[in-house]
Amino acid sequence: MPTSERRQTIIVLDFGSQYSRLITRRVRECRVYSELVPATTTLAQLQQNPHLDIKGFILSGGPSSVYDQQAPLCDLAILRSGLPILGICYGMHLLAHQLGGHVAHSSDQREYGPATIEVLSNTVQDPRILHIFEGIHITPTQTDPLADSVASTLLRLPVWMSHGDSVDALPAGFDVISSTESTPVAAIANPRGLVGLQFHPEVTHTPQGTQIIRNFLYRICNCEPSWTPSSVIEETTAQISKQVGDQRVICGLSGGVDSAVAALLVHEAIGSQLTCVFVDTGCLRAGEREQVIDTFTVHLRIPLVVIDARARFLARLANVVDPEQKRKIIGEEFIRVFEETAQHLEEQGGPITFLAQGTLYPDVIESTSHDTASTATRIKTHHNVGGLPEDMSLKLVEPLRMLFKDEVREIGLALGLPEEWVWRHPFPGPGLAIRIIGAIDEERLSTLRAADAIVIEEIRRAGIYRELGQAFAVLTPLQSVGVMGDYRTYANVVAVRAVTTGDFMTADWARLSPDILARISNRIVNEVPGVNRVVYDITSKPPATIEWE
Ligand code: XMP
Repeated sequence: MPTSERRQTIIVLDFGSQYSRLITRRVRECRVYSELVPATTTLAQLQQNPHLDIKGFILSGGPSSVYDQQAPLCDLAILRSGLPILGICYGMHLLAHQLGGHVAHSSDQREYGPATIEVLSNTVQDPRILHIFEGIHITPTQTDPLADSVASTLLRLPVWMSHGDSVDALPAGFDVISSTESTPVAAIANPRGLVGLQFHPEVTHTPQGTQIIRNFLYRICNCEPSWTPSSVIEETTAQISKQVGDQRVICGLSGGVDSAVAALLVHEAIGSQLTCVFVDTGCLRAGEREQVIDTFTVHLRIPLVVIDARARFLARLANVVDPEQKRKIIGEEFIRVFEETAQHLEEQGGPITFLAQGTLYPDVIESTSHDTASTATRIKTHHNVGGLPEDMSLKLVEPLRMLFKDEVREIGLALGLPEEWVWRHPFPGPGLAIRIIGAIDEERLSTLRAADAIVIEEIRRAGIYRELGQAFAVLTPLQSVGVMGDYRTYANVVAVRAVTTGDFMTADWARLSPDILARISNRIVNEVPGVNRVVYDITSKPPATIEWE
């Protein structure tokens, strides 16, 4: 899609629900572009963005009651815009409250958890009102699917409820289209595409939720499924070309998927005006440097400057035991190396004006407070590649700033990034330095590197790499007694950590099979000199963290 074109968009107004971001993702999974904006955003503000072709709005849930003193309201101009609106939970209450209906306040009663709604197709006058439930065939008792008829058939649908207040008087022109045993008004709609749902279609506990969202997008808002990887690539590269012109861009690769996809998009847009830099800190995993070089220079044919900074990093880290100190040293040293490299590149090939970074949409959303009256996003100063300096005077190119992680992966695949890379576990900036408990030296680094490589190899061999959020080895500061052959040994203890997680904020230890654990343990003890014992970490986060330091 060329930049000049307007992009079909669903605006999600964030009234503070824990699911607001999820709603935005669900819409995008249906291939319709969606933006999450603060609740106070006005129609006039949104209309200032020439790229948005707003097809509808979703009002998220939220913790407030419409009668709270500080209850956030929706801009009336949005409610009266004539565009379709889906109000979810608190969003539904707002539709009722602000359009002349009434919400019954419940100070202590909450309905939370699974419920079954009945779709009341016998009461409606206008079949358009039922678009939101079309094409859903769920109940075994159902004989006459709603998609084919709007007769008096009852459709029973399992949903996820979470609310206190509920609508008890409808605004003019609305009908009740579903209810539950305890909530007479579980969904409302009018023929002009305003729909309120008391339940949450965006969560997986509402099994037909995606179909409900699809119905809103395709049948009510008349959206087309045009938000695809190829349209994103086309649009983003056009934007980068426009932003950068004939200037030079530098991009630090971390070895992770975000910086790789950011670099690929920039390269797609401006080719040789981009220089990628990869710093070997000496704290990388086995084969990591070679893999980065191979993927970028051989596979993707993107020129790469590799800086071997192992000696200077290790010199500064000598005898440092405190984890935060290790992080600080690595961050600072990284900045120095990067600045020196940038300067060197400038001396060789002229000024560099831009720095490409893999900032993602969640970082952008996080930096936008709910109480801002503006949709303009304030960017958190955050550091993707080990902490790049703010005073570098480089302008930022952030091609991923409107994308979620899953979208970044899809685009990476579409641009030829190998699958193995796209699904890599995250690796912390300070690298193996924070997986060696205590002081770091060459010997301990190579012990950990060898043990870690075995963990990953065995996990890949078992075909469970993608199921795990992260898996790695930790070199503990413990030595323990062992016996190998006829000899007593006194050697290092390696801990194995493997976790399942969605967002890395919480995690559970992975229930690896005894066979996998046995293979990992045998191989580490047999193949890695200096290790005679392997333990498995069975702590979740919280109370532990994923990393040991
Ligand atoms: P924790 O250990 O806090 O880790 O449960 C959560 C996620 O963050 C990663 N992590 C880091 N990443 N620099 C990074 O770039 C760091 O200092 C750092 N510490 C933890 C960790 O690997 C996990 O994915």
